[in-house]
Amino acid sequence: MSDTSAPLDRPRARVVSFRSRRDALTPARQRAWDEWWPAMGTDAGDEPLDLAAWFGREAPLVVEIGSGTGTATAAMAAAEPEVNLLAIEVYRPGLAQLVQHCRAAGVTNVRAVRGDAVQVFTHQLAEESLAGVRVFFPDPWPKHKHHKRRLLKQPVVQLIATRLRSGGVLHVATDHLPYAEEVAEVGDAEPLLTRVDLAAESPMLLRRPVTKFENRAEQAGTAVTELLWRKR
Ligand SMILES: C[S@@+](CC[C@H](N)C(=O)[O-])C[C@H]1O[C@@H](n2cnc3c(N)ncnc32)[C@H](O)[C@@H]1O
Repeated sequence: MSDTSAPLDRPRARVVSFRSRRDALTPARQRAWDEWWPAMGTDAGDEPLDLAAWFGREAPLVVEIGSGTGTATAAMAAAEPEVNLLAIEVYRPGLAQLVQHCRAAGVTNVRAVRGDAVQVFTHQLAEESLAGVRVFFPDPWPKHKHHKRRLLKQPVVQLIATRLRSGGVLHVATDHLPYAEEVAEVGDAEPLLTRVDLAAESPMLLRRPVTKFENRAEQAGTAVTELLWRKR
């Protein structure tokens, strides 16, 4: 069986889109983690998330895959308080920073799951439930032999599309042109999605704050490609 045809719900059976990195926290991040993670975060699992209970309210749900250090997450959460924002990230030091950013910004509409977004989407998020999905600067895996590790391949784009509700938006940003071209092709071929432009009406904020990846792209003179689809 090829890598891309392996079932999405068996992480050991497929190639994952993330690398293993050091999990250690600085003392300040450890303190933030110990104090706030139990309320704000949870590990990925196999049971559907009870999001209304966790957020303490019913509100449109926007999921960010690969939130990194949470800079964009916290800023966007502050700018769209009417939205429930769920960040999914495998990298614990990044999640600890997300917690710190959210506390510093005073935002209360962010929750986070630590683990593989593919697992979370497969088992823990209901079909037709999301107002939006954000994937900002997904790892481009530039070497040819690593292309199979790219997150936004057909099975995952289809999985995301099934979890969006009608009218929900998938927003992708990348500074890697070949990856942008590949994602554009996959998204345009997905029957559940229709490409829209930045000016289109959206159930979620489309203006992103600049993250360190975008800063680096700007310094390197690399253009950032924004891609948007709406669920039919
Ligand atoms: C290049 S970073 C971008 C971080 C952030 N979006 C930003 O713009 O600063 C990509 C992030 O995606 C995370 N990631 C990759 N695959 C993932 C997956 N399947 N589930 C959750 N997070 C993932 C990585 O750990 C990494 O932190």
